[in-house]
Amino acid sequence: MPLPVRKAVFPVAGLGTRSLPATKAIPKEMLPVVDKPLIQYAVEEAYAAGVREMIFVTGRHKRPIEDHFDMTFELEVALENAGKQDLLDVVRSVKPDDMECIYVRQPQALGLGHAVLCGQRLVGNEPFAVLLADDLMVGETPVLKQMVEQFADWRASILAVQEVPAEHTRRYGIVAGTQVNDLLLDVNRIVEKPAPEVAPSRLGVAGRYLLTPGVFHEIANQPRGVGGEIQLTDGIAGLLRREKVFAYRYEGKRYDCGSKEGFLQANVELALAHPQLGAGFREFLKGLPL
Ligand code: G1P
Repeated sequence: MPLPVRKAVFPVAGLGTRSLPATKAIPKEMLPVVDKPLIQYAVEEAYAAGVREMIFVTGRHKRPIEDHFDMTFELEVALENAGKQDLLDVVRSVKPDDMECIYVRQPQALGLGHAVLCGQRLVGNEPFAVLLADDLMVGETPVLKQMVEQFADWRASILAVQEVPAEHTRRYGIVAGTQVNDLLLDVNRIVEKPAPEVAPSRLGVAGRYLLTPGVFHEIANQPRGVGGEIQLTDGIAGLLRREKVFAYRYEGKRYDCGSKEGFLQANVELALAHPQLGAGFREFLKGLPL
């Protein structure tokens, strides 16, 4: 019987400075890719992996995220009265009845590790997922679901990784370890944003983690790391001295929607793949003087 992962933490308190000016008054997680905000893709991915308790670590100016997953009574009544059942279904599907959304504040932006730590009391003593919404993941099997399947076999923390260009190691947590099989690495080192010359490999952590609750203790005992922040990576480095941690080469594609370039790429590729919009959009692109 696979052990289900019931809870996911979404750190959404960040300022989104890389996406300014779009994110001056809108949380970066609410930027839409085609027709859905980024955070909805991440929540849907967690739901598809069996997670039902969504824990948002939020901050000031992030109210639109709470509103998005709340019931919009006036809108629903208006759509119902107008007989627009299809739109009503779209609105209601944002938060299925068996999904719970919980919000906790990160009072100060002290880093990703600190944000995850803010979810400690809500997570309690069980394994949990962390999803960074600005990494939009597209896979035939949702990436977190692939990881939950691995977790059922290994019962240990699992980090999603991908090969990154040597000149990009400064953007990621970089892992090294021993190969277990084609997809899994038994991690023995993890370093946050190393320079290419000192990076232990080119395997970069994407924004999906399955963690055992032991990581909280490790994060809490870390000094500030890269950028003066309390880093999740450093907490995981502490964890792997006590427990096994695996890196998993996921099947799928990652768009770094925290960068303008990645955000545009996601919009174009997901628009092309969209069941209603794809064909027309393809024709439109063909007509452009590229
Ligand atoms: C964070 C993590 C980093 C990870 C990355 C994935 O960095 O600290 O280890 O590789 O997310 O997107 P950030 O992108 O928030 O600077």
